[in-house]
Amino acid sequence: MCGIVGFTGTKEAAPILLSGLTKLEYRGYDSAGIAVIDSGTINMVKSPGKIVNLYNKTHNGSDLHGFTGIGHTRWATHGVPNEINAHPHMSEHGNIAIVHNGIIENYMELKEFLISQGVTFVSETDTEVVVQLLEYYYIQLKDLRDAIFKVLQVIEGAYALVILCKDYPDSFVVARKDAPLLLGFGDGCNFVASDATAIIEYTREVAYMEDGEVAFITKDNIDVYDSFGQPIEKEHHIIDWDISAAEKGGYAHFMFKEIMEQPEAIRKTMSPRIRDNRIVFDDLKIDKAFMEKVDRIYIVACGSSYHVGMVGKYNMERLLRVPVDPVLASEFRYSDPLVTENTLIIVISQSGETLDTMAALREAKKRGAHITSIVNVVGSSIARESDDVLYTWAGPEIAVATTKAYSTQLTLLNMLGLYFADMLHTVEESEYNKIVEEMQWLPEKIESILQNTDQIKYLASRYFNHNSIFFIGRNLDYALGMEGSLKLKEISYIHSEAYASGELKHGTISLIEKGTLVVALGTYGPLFDKAMSNVVEVRARGADVMAITTVSHADEMQKNVDFAVAVPDTHLILQPSLGIVPLQLFAYYVALQRGCDIDKPRNLAKSVTVE
Ligand code: F6R
Repeated sequence: MCGIVGFTGTKEAAPILLSGLTKLEYRGYDSAGIAVIDSGTINMVKSPGKIVNLYNKTHNGSDLHGFTGIGHTRWATHGVPNEINAHPHMSEHGNIAIVHNGIIENYMELKEFLISQGVTFVSETDTEVVVQLLEYYYIQLKDLRDAIFKVLQVIEGAYALVILCKDYPDSFVVARKDAPLLLGFGDGCNFVASDATAIIEYTREVAYMEDGEVAFITKDNIDVYDSFGQPIEKEHHIIDWDISAAEKGGYAHFMFKEIMEQPEAIRKTMSPRIRDNRIVFDDLKIDKAFMEKVDRIYIVACGSSYHVGMVGKYNMERLLRVPVDPVLASEFRYSDPLVTENTLIIVISQSGETLDTMAALREAKKRGAHITSIVNVVGSSIARESDDVLYTWAGPEIAVATTKAYSTQLTLLNMLGLYFADMLHTVEESEYNKIVEEMQWLPEKIESILQNTDQIKYLASRYFNHNSIFFIGRNLDYALGMEGSLKLKEISYIHSEAYASGELKHGTISLIEKGTLVVALGTYGPLFDKAMSNVVEVRARGADVMAITTVSHADEMQKNVDFAVAVPDTHLILQPSLGIVPLQLFAYYVALQRGCDIDKPRNLAKSVTVE
């Protein structure tokens, strides 16, 4: 969601900004723009639609000259995605241009004030208020730094801001509150970006901005100040993933590449945490004394990460015999949650920047809960604010629809559940050993599914024209169906819903008619027979049924459905890790047949930093 990049150095800024914005495309956007300072004038080019429009408008950046500039991809919130509303926004007298990620909550009140002072607005955005206010104070105070600190005291909401001022042609200023921003230290040049993908081509040395911090950036220096204006030293980090991880590497889409990377991603996530067939979390602060007191676990997340939490509920309750509630972060934060110091909160987030999840985390922390997070992006806000962070080592995930991050989150959550169960002796030793052994076979078993995609491809070509698809399953298969359905709808734009099979007859079955496609999930052994009765019910009403099941149940399933896709058997708590793979592939191939923009589905963003 909204991507930011800024550069100052001794090279032309525009091509660097355009290339950085292209790397940030995956975050989701609907307009883009850049601004560069040339001989004391800020020149701006903006466009609705894709970044290619900016390349075309500027002859690949060659029309804009100057060594300092800022760029932005906008995911519209206030005002439609047109050229005027696109960032950067320029102040009325052309002194200042800014790009902004986040939402200024008191913008109406500030806008009214500025209008009363004679300021004219051109856009519908909340961002323009910031740039006009900054110019207003700059003219009054005659000091950019004072004006910036003044504005930051007045604006409310979330922001990552990058500010260019025509009077300082060799520098820019950045400020952060509740929106991601990192500083990049180059050789004779410096950067700012929403995430490392934008700048890794130029530097791996970064520092993560914290809330309230402001940085003044020239090609040789980055001076950072806290919210009181006191200088601070930032810890430098080295990005250790390879640039190829953020490139397609011969695949048609990032999503397909990332589906294919799942075995390796799971290996990387799992193997450092299994020693002599025992799960170890060296870095976890939670001990047995704490776990013995825990009387409730909340798993807080959004979207696919929440679906991981749904699997976690079934598995952790089974292993720990403690109530486990997966809760949508956007609901949790406003629900006056029942959190005490005996509550364990597990926060799951690929990006580590999802605003709803972040806010839920803070709410739980305020109430005294211990926060353990499962995060993919190292150094992200959620990682930094948690008491414990467990990283999934999935590498950068670029496709908006998550696949490898989901799979590694699932692996890690299962490992955590098993680790706690071992600690509390709520799992039999033989069961523990069996699960750990089966876990280590997951990568190979997923590889075997990925080597045989023809059947799924065929099914996608058969069903891609449907306009409504239902996923049904019980227990872990219900959780799996939720994720399968989300994958399909987000990238193929087919309406789809997931139901607990037993719930169909309480209303939804009225939607089933001749030819409706039902994806029946029958990988959860203990309730296979029950799931079959529900399959029979929908078939009796004319549904086409495509099933995902296990090799051991494939023959039985095949008797009652049109098509059965079989995944290898594993321990039942791990079965969703295999069941998800054909569902991801099905969504991918359906979207491909429909000609959808698979990696960047409409209206969606990779990192959702607004409420
Ligand atoms: C769906 C998807 C989203 C995310 C959700 C949470 O494919 O990717 O539903 O799972 O926006 O994002 P994170 O995990 O970054 O907090």
